[in-house]
Amino acid sequence: MWFSNMSKLFVNIDHVATLREARKVNIPSLLEALFECQLAGAQGVTIHLREDERHVKRKDVYDIKLHKTIPMNLESSINEDIVGVVCDVVPEMTCIVPEKRQEITTEGGLNVVDLQSCLKPIIERYHQKNIEVSLFIEADKKMIALASDLGADAIEIHTGKYANASYKERGAELDIIRAGIDFAYDKGLKVNLGHGLNYENIHPLLKNPKVSEFNIGHSIVAQAVFVGLREAVSEMRRLIES
Ligand code: PXP
Repeated sequence: MWFSNMSKLFVNIDHVATLREARKVNIPSLLEALFECQLAGAQGVTIHLREDERHVKRKDVYDIKLHKTIPMNLESSINEDIVGVVCDVVPEMTCIVPEKRQEITTEGGLNVVDLQSCLKPIIERYHQKNIEVSLFIEADKKMIALASDLGADAIEIHTGKYANASYKERGAELDIIRAGIDFAYDKGLKVNLGHGLNYENIHPLLKNPKVSEFNIGHSIVAQAVFVGLREAVSEMRRLIES
């Protein structure tokens, strides 16, 4: 596990696969997206191999593993088949996420309380392979404490509620996230943030040395439509570093 004072940018390139699968062809290429992210200075690449492989395919995961020069965060559900892929690929880290067939994107955090008995052996299996394990959860103290008890190395706080909050509600959602960051950090967990973050709403979350990584996808790929992926990633990195 590694900590540093400067938060890192992990770019989620699932959205490039979503565009490719809209036509079921081979463009835009996920590998080209990876190379652009690397050239732009992304410090990690994130992909989610869903059980139905509707965006990212199994082959993509192996291709990215082969060609990447930056750490890979492979998001995975607790499905046995997917857990097997993670153990075979051995990414630097995996983030365990909840998964529902009909959802457009990951809708909420993992219910660590309900899933604790199946999470524990999966975390142990990943640790045997030296894979860093993160749990994608809401900024809820009970969930965070349990993530720590189960042996997770990190949590990724789901920032979706904050990102979708009205201007009036934003302050309260920020307070919840900040309290979650502090609580998790004090428990010795690495703290990552992700979901719905963009070039504007990320500002109040910057300059927090307790935040290790941001996982950002949709806003970067959306910006890439206008400025290209390399520039879109560079812009986000500049923001995080400024
Ligand atoms: N983190 C997790 C666990 C996710 O499931 C997602 C969505 O794919 C993200 C981060 C990135 O969210 P967004 O695409 O909204 O930036």
